[in-house]
Amino acid sequence: MSPLNIVILAAGKGTRMYSEKPKVLHALAGKPLLQHVLDCAAMLNPQQVCVVYGYGGEAVPAAMQQYADVTFVVQNPQMGTGHAVQQAMPHLGDASNTLVLYGDVPLIQCSTLHQMQQAGDGLVILTINLKNPTGYGRIVRDAQGRVLSIIEEKDATPEQRKIEEVNTGILLAPTKMLRDWLAKLRNNNSQGEYYLTDIVSLAVQQGVAVHTSHPAHEWEIHGINSKSQLATLERTWQLVEAHRLLEQGVTLADPARIDVRGKLSCGRDVEIDVGCIFEGEVSLGDRVRVGAYSVIRNSRIAAGTHIAPYSHVDSSEVGANCKIGPYARLRPGTKLGDEVHVGNFVEVKNSEIAANSKANHLSYIGDSTIGSRVNIGAGTITCNYDGANKYRTIIEDDVFIGSDTQLVAPVTVGKGATIGAGSTITRDAPKGELTLSRTKQVTVAGWKRPSKKK
Ligand code: UD1
Ligand code: MG
Repeated sequence: MSPLNIVILAAGKGTRMYSEKPKVLHALAGKPLLQHVLDCAAMLNPQQVCVVYGYGGEAVPAAMQQYADVTFVVQNPQMGTGHAVQQAMPHLGDASNTLVLYGDVPLIQCSTLHQMQQAGDGLVILTINLKNPTGYGRIVRDAQGRVLSIIEEKDATPEQRKIEEVNTGILLAPTKMLRDWLAKLRNNNSQGEYYLTDIVSLAVQQGVAVHTSHPAHEWEIHGINSKSQLATLERTWQLVEAHRLLEQGVTLADPARIDVRGKLSCGRDVEIDVGCIFEGEVSLGDRVRVGAYSVIRNSRIAAGTHIAPYSHVDSSEVGANCKIGPYARLRPGTKLGDEVHVGNFVEVKNSEIAANSKANHLSYIGDSTIGSRVNIGAGTITCNYDGANKYRTIIEDDVFIGSDTQLVAPVTVGKGATIGAGSTITRDAPKGELTLSRTKQVTVAGWKRPSKKK
């Protein structure tokens, strides 16, 4: 097979988005539209990828800096899809095929593009039959069913407008032929634009075969022109993701109420309640249960762990058979061993908590290393920040921290130590001993509450 170039058209303004942001930078499933297309393009092992940008100036290349091998070509002014592809041509070698994709058609699948590559030599256009073809270019065929041309809706006769087979815009052509055809385009049409679609009739005139190929799903070719279309395609995609999970055996309380903005991998017998959001790369081990309205981002949750409703887990590693939440917050750098309990209104940040330890109520654990079988009483706070620098708190195995304790870091609580409730611990507490810092309880005999002055 000849090497493949990919040209992604992304110069359009997206007037109907009513946004300062270029259209292709709006996100679907947590990722800019253009990034979906670039990630799909990368899977085809292309020799060269060119993005044609225009509206929004350097915002588009600036937002895509992680794609170091991609060439960004500016199109200014924007004079049509044919003119747009022409801007990329100087970057493409003749001995190749060129695939044209659209930065605002985010869900095109690699498998559909592979199929286009198998469709035959010559020009390959991706078409689809739509019950309502309004707005699309129509595929005009002869009596034998051979493709003759693509006619834009604005240039079509009423008879042609009845054609249900439409141009998705995506096409594949031998680069040298494409270069020649693009040079011949004229803008004598109703929009005064250089139409990429006119290369079809040029191919036909030259006797070059024109093949059609079709996407596996209609949603693959849906373009985004408005926030309404963006929201609709988001829901479509989320349902696709939900059914993919269901087919793998994941239990979803409601496939219409889960959002996956990234990659979610699940073991066996995972259960996910309604309203959960998964961002980035998340993996859930066997038998993990995620309670309603939890948000989990870039984290690994090991087998058998139960996350109760309204918990937030961000960039954390959670061991097996833990109990998290409800209303727990695990912030970046949290590492929990097995069978750890983190209960309601407990915030953990940049801390390790080893196996079988518990912090069940109303605590802040930041920059801490906590051993095994430790009990952190309700309301315990690690004071990790002096206003300028952060310090660590170390709590060794088998420690019991009484409720409402402040641990002023840097501080170490030795193995097996007990801290009395209500203490402010500013110096290391020795192992095995009871340490507390309280004034003695006194009773003032005969004391009266003040009463309101008349
Ligand atoms: C185009 C096709 C039409 C097809 C439809 C599918 C042409 C002439 N028509 O029409 O047959 O059914 O897509 O959605 O190709 N763009 C640029 N520079 C330009 C013009 C457009 O980069 O100068 C980009 C836009 O950002 C957009 C894409 O090309 O991503 C399509 O442009 P658009 O104006 O939406 O074309 P349509 O009229 O929808
Ligand atoms: Mg369009």
